[in-house]
Amino acid sequence: MRIMMVTSEAVPFAKTGGLADVATGLSKALVASEHEVALVMPCYRRHIPESDRGEIVGQVTFEMLHTTLTADIFETKIPDSEVRVFLVDRPHFFDRDGLYLENGHDYGDNAERFLFFSRAAVEVARHFFRPDIIHANDWQTGLVPGLILQEREHQGELGNIGTVYTIHNMAFHGEFPSLQMLNTGMNSRYFNWEQLEYFGNLNLLKGGIAMADIVTTVSPTYAKETCLPEFGYGLDPVLENRGEDYIGILNGVDMSIWNPESDPHIAMQYNFQNYKEGKAECKAALQREMGLPENPEAMVLGLVSRLTDQKGLDLITKKATQILNANVQFAFLGAGDPRYEKILLKLQQDYPDKVAVYIGFQEGLAHRIEAGSDAFLMPSSFEPCGLNQQYSQIYGTPPIVHAVGGLTDSVVDVQRHTLDNGTATGFVFREYDADHFLDTVWRAVGMFVHHTEDWNKLVLNSMVKDSSWDRIAQEYTDVYERVIAKLG
Ligand code: ADP
Ligand code: GLC
Repeated sequence: MRIMMVTSEAVPFAKTGGLADVATGLSKALVASEHEVALVMPCYRRHIPESDRGEIVGQVTFEMLHTTLTADIFETKIPDSEVRVFLVDRPHFFDRDGLYLENGHDYGDNAERFLFFSRAAVEVARHFFRPDIIHANDWQTGLVPGLILQEREHQGELGNIGTVYTIHNMAFHGEFPSLQMLNTGMNSRYFNWEQLEYFGNLNLLKGGIAMADIVTTVSPTYAKETCLPEFGYGLDPVLENRGEDYIGILNGVDMSIWNPESDPHIAMQYNFQNYKEGKAECKAALQREMGLPENPEAMVLGLVSRLTDQKGLDLITKKATQILNANVQFAFLGAGDPRYEKILLKLQQDYPDKVAVYIGFQEGLAHRIEAGSDAFLMPSSFEPCGLNQQYSQIYGTPPIVHAVGGLTDSVVDVQRHTLDNGTATGFVFREYDADHFLDTVWRAVGMFVHHTEDWNKLVLNSMVKDSSWDRIAQEYTDVYERVIAKLG
C-alpha cells in the first residue's frame, strides 16, 4: 500500500510534542511492514538546516489569497529509514522561530499557513507521490480529508484516495473566522453545520472528523472519553456520529530512539539485566548535571512536559512543598505557561538542594531524566495518549499518573496481585485532585524506601513490556484496508 502521512511536525526535523514522535515512529513501522510511505510536512527553515532538506524535486502552485501561490518541494528521507519526506517550502509562512507560536502568542496567520500547507500536501499527492491512503493529523491538516472528499464528489483525479484522520488533542480546534473559507479551496457548500462550520466559524478539527473516511485517536480510552461533553470540547456529538468509524489506537514507542540499551544521550546504557547499575550511574550523572547533591538515597522524581494545565502542573505545584518534606529530589524539564515556569523556578530557589528545573526544550536532557529518575510524574487532567509515561516504563522509571485517556491504557496500578502477576507498571490515582495525587506519591515513596524488593519487581515489569510500534502498525494497516474496502 502507498501511504502519505501529512503532519505539521516530525522528528528529527521539527518537534513541539508527541505528534512529532508518532508521525515518524508510525511511518517507520509502516515501511517496515512493506508499505511505501511518504511524509509531508512544512519546511521550517530555522529548524531544518539546508543540509537536511534534500533536493528540490519541483513546485506546487494554486490560487489562494486572491493570487497564485507556489511552494518549492524538497525531497529527503527520515534518517536510517526508507520513509520519503516531502518538505513544503514557502519561507513567508514557515521561516520563523516557532512552529505555531512565539512568545506565548499564536501566529496571527496560522489559518493561512496551515490551509496553505494542507492544500500543498494534496498537490504533492497529485504530482509527486500518488497514495492509496492519506493519513492526516490534528487541526493543522484538518482540511485534507475535505479536499479529497471534494475531489471525489466532483470526479477529480484524487477522489479514489482514502483518508484517515487522527486526533492527537481535542483541545486544539483550529477555529478561525468564516472569511478563511475563501482560502480553503473548498466549495462554500461545505461550510455547513455538519462539515466545516462551527458556531459561525471555520473549524478545521471538525472538518477532519466529519469528512475523513475513518477517524482515529491515540488511545482506546480517549476515543470513549471524547464522545462525552467533558472531553469533547463541543465536538463530542460529531465524534459520536462517526460510530464504528471512530477508533482508538494506542501510540507505540520508537525503540530506535527511546531505548536505554542503545540511547546515546545517557551516561550508561542498560537493559533489564544490568538496570540497577545502569540506573544508579544515570541517576548520579543526572544529579551532577542538574546541580543536585549526588545522593543515591534521595528518590528522584522526574518530569518532562509542556507546562500547561493539561499536564497536571496545578497538582504538582500545589503539593510540591509537602512532597519535598520527604527525602526526594525534583528533576524537571519543561516550557510553556509562564505562570508555571515562575512557580517552578521559585521552588528551585527555595529548595536548591532538592529541586532542579530546566526551562526550555532539550532532547538530550529529556532522555537523561527518563533514565536517571526513580519515578516519573505525569498526573495529567486529560491525556489523549501520552508518550513520556511509556518512555519512563521502558527506562525502568515507574510513572505516577492520573487514570485518564492513554494513561489508563498504558499504566497498570501497583496492587499486591498486579505486582505478583507481573502486570503492574506504575502508580495510578482515579480522582483528579491534589490530595489523591499526594497519596499516590506517598505510595510510591513508601515502596521505594521500604519495599525495595517490590520496587525492583515493578521496575522489571515495566521494562520488559512491549510498547513498540511494530504490532501497532498492523492495527493501522487494518484501518487503511477498511478504508479501501469502504471505497469499493
Ligand atoms: P504532548 O504531545 O501532549 O506534549 P506526549 O507525552 O505525547 O505529550 O509527548 C511529549 C514529547 O515531547 C515527548 O517526546 C517528550 O519527551 C517531549 N518533550 C516535552 N517537553 C519537552 C522539553 N521541554 N524538552 C524536551 N522534550 C520535551
Ligand atoms: C498530543 C497529546 C498526547 C499524545 C500526542 C501524540 O500532543 O497531548 O497525549 O501522546 O499528541 O499522539
